[in-house]
Amino acid sequence: MGNTQTAPAPAPAAAGSAPSGELKPTGSLDIKDSRTDKTYSVQIVQGGVEGDTATRAMDLRQIKTAPDEFGLMTYDPAFMNTASCKSAITFIDGDKGILRYRGYPIEQLAEKATFLEVAWLLRHGELPAQGEYDQWVRDITFHTYVHENIKTFLQGFRYDAHPMSMLCSTVAALSSFYPEAKNIHDPEQRNISIIRLLAKLPTLAAFCYRHIKGLPFIYPDNDLSYVENFLSMVARMSEPKYEANPVFVKALEILFILHADHEQNCSTNAVRAVGSSQVDPFSAIAAGVAALYGPLHGGANEQVLRMINEIGHPKNVPAFIDEVKGGKGGRLMGFGHRVYKSYDPRAKIVKALADEVFKQVGMDKDLEIALKLEDAALHDDYFVSRKLYPNVDFYTGLIYRSMAFPTDFFTVLFAVARTAGWLAQWEELLLDKEQKIARPRQIYVGYGDRPYQSKLAQRFPTLKKDALRK
Ligand code: ACO
Repeated sequence: MGNTQTAPAPAPAAAGSAPSGELKPTGSLDIKDSRTDKTYSVQIVQGGVEGDTATRAMDLRQIKTAPDEFGLMTYDPAFMNTASCKSAITFIDGDKGILRYRGYPIEQLAEKATFLEVAWLLRHGELPAQGEYDQWVRDITFHTYVHENIKTFLQGFRYDAHPMSMLCSTVAALSSFYPEAKNIHDPEQRNISIIRLLAKLPTLAAFCYRHIKGLPFIYPDNDLSYVENFLSMVARMSEPKYEANPVFVKALEILFILHADHEQNCSTNAVRAVGSSQVDPFSAIAAGVAALYGPLHGGANEQVLRMINEIGHPKNVPAFIDEVKGGKGGRLMGFGHRVYKSYDPRAKIVKALADEVFKQVGMDKDLEIALKLEDAALHDDYFVSRKLYPNVDFYTGLIYRSMAFPTDFFTVLFAVARTAGWLAQWEELLLDKEQKIARPRQIYVGYGDRPYQSKLAQRFPTLKKDALRK
């Protein structure tokens, strides 16, 4: 693992590179303050060809009633309408159901590209030439091994530990093996850290799986492709060479591409926020893994299967839908999205992929429930009026289950793929001269100034020995 003899770091695409990086003024907005009768003009800016229009929130600080006042700020819990960065990586049009990486439609990448090609594209902004791709694959393949101490570390987890807890901790622990990774302004260090993270995530993920199953760890096989090697580390037993099912290899490659990036989602925002403190990338990516674990984000694919299990039979679908609508059954997991207000384009690809995989391994017993749920929701006014459509996670769980992955491992698969996007976003953040440490404001709604009056009998009470025994 210690060898850092990789190809020289290629120049990463500059943050905000053409065509969508520049924020161009396209007009102005006049705001009249009724408290002072003053009118202020704030600029309207637009980012690139299909960029959203915005104003700079800092301009609002001019609007005040007295010179020594703080000025206005915006209040936006959950960032419903706040752009935190300029980015040239991923474009989403949530109303039209469009997703593109660096301008390339997700449908074309899923059909024709490889995951490592997409990982390069996300980072560098262009598709790799053959020589660049070969070197990239060689570098990533060369760094798949992890320090032997990681195995000892993993063995400390209980047999029933959730693999996302294990993955989050081991990714964070990698930081201690590569102290030089904290030199984030050194392009060579950034390059080797990015290669190491992409290379080692499948190894760590597979080791988490083997630990839960009580199976010996399988070392990387560097003769295999990225996905084949991952499947080998997960599933190989006594055979000298693992031969993966080509349908599974293709399915996983496509699922990795679909999950590789999704602009400023919860986990990417976590990576950027933590990365903005200038910590090393292993620690920043561990923050992304933690955010992804949540059931409203990457954890949803696991919850979809649990929900389908609970429903149990297609005949129970209408009653379940009624419970969701009545607020009793929780949410319909795998439905709804903060950005997509039409069918998630990834969900369409996943549904077609599920058909291909089921042709190979036989129909999933719960597919009928999933199809009936989808149909019921797409024709129900509650879901239609709220623009709730299936998201990427609705069908992925069924595919992963047919490949024999345990339910609580689904989000780990997502994390392996999303690492490509997190790293591209992290590097874009570092190279963006407008970025600083992420530090939102608050609107304080608590007490005003009040004097301290203790409610304790004694300031430093001595603990009586007996107290501990009670
Ligand atoms: N089932 C039932 N009702 C829902 C659902 C759902 N899955 N999602 C949203 N709603 C309802 C809300 O109750 C709310 O109704 P109301 O206006 O009557 O109060 C309305 O739709 C809007 O919901 P919000 O929570 O405001 O939407 P938001 O954009 O904040 O949430 C989210 C998006 C978190 C994805 C939500 O749709 C959800 O919880 N979905 C289920 C979990 C899921 O599948 N997450 C995976 C997302 S994809 C990913 O992260 C990879």
